Amino acid sequence: MKKIICISAANIVHSRNQSTSLLLCEKIADIVREKGIICEIIDLRDSLLSPCIGCGKCYESKRCYYDNAFNGIYESIIQSDGVFFVSPHYAPIPAKLCMLLEKMEEITFLHWWKDNTYQSEVYGIPAGIVSHGGGSDWALKSYKAMVNDTISNALETIQLKTAAFDTEWETGISIGVSKVTEQSDIFPIQEYEWNTILHKLRKYIDVMLSK
Ligand SMILES: Cc1cc2nc3c(=O)[nH]c(=O)nc-3n(C[C@H](O)[C@H](O)[C@H](O)COP(=O)(O)O)c2cc1C
Repeated sequence: MKKIICISAANIVHSRNQSTSLLLCEKIADIVREKGIICEIIDLRDSLLSPCIGCGKCYESKRCYYDNAFNGIYESIIQSDGVFFVSPHYAPIPAKLCMLLEKMEEITFLHWWKDNTYQSEVYGIPAGIVSHGGGSDWALKSYKAMVNDTISNALETIQLKTAAFDTEWETGISIGVSKVTEQSDIFPIQEYEWNTILHKLRKYIDVMLSK
């Protein structure tokens, strides 16, 4: 693999460079770059994406007529050898990630349903999925069901290939917090066991790179 894209799916602006999704992307990028692979992080907070309105104009161009931000991200994915989706559990996934998946899905689906042998521009590119949320290990299975499995289902239509972590975690990995503390601010402070997380990320990245 020569180039990996790492998508930080967080929407929330106030966390800035302390967004857990972004921090996880940075850890992934560090590990990947150690291996001599280029890694580009795409922070969805920097993009003004819009939802798919089903106009069908993408059928000819395979690009969204209305959304250059989407087209830029899509192009980066097409040019990559692998993509990581790092997503928090929101409700259940961040809205901009939904918009990105909707448009990639529509572009592929419109062709596939006329011709079931159709291969999309991202056909077979391996995709790693890393979910997380405000809960600790007890919550990970629910993050899998709501975040990993949801993203993986969409990726199947898009024809990206979800990288399994193992037989139990066939749609990627999930990361929990180690401690949540209240403060005077309205938002809780989430703490993480970064050594344990790095170990898990390294294992998952090795699986991805072997694809
Ligand atoms: C709109 C919204 C909804 C959320 N819903 C949940 C939830 O249902 N369960 C959960 O464990 N965490 C939930 N969270 C907490 C986030 O998943 C958690 O704080 C995560 O670390 C945020 O990632 P980020 O810093 O990359 O945005 C929610 C956060 C937001 C902003």
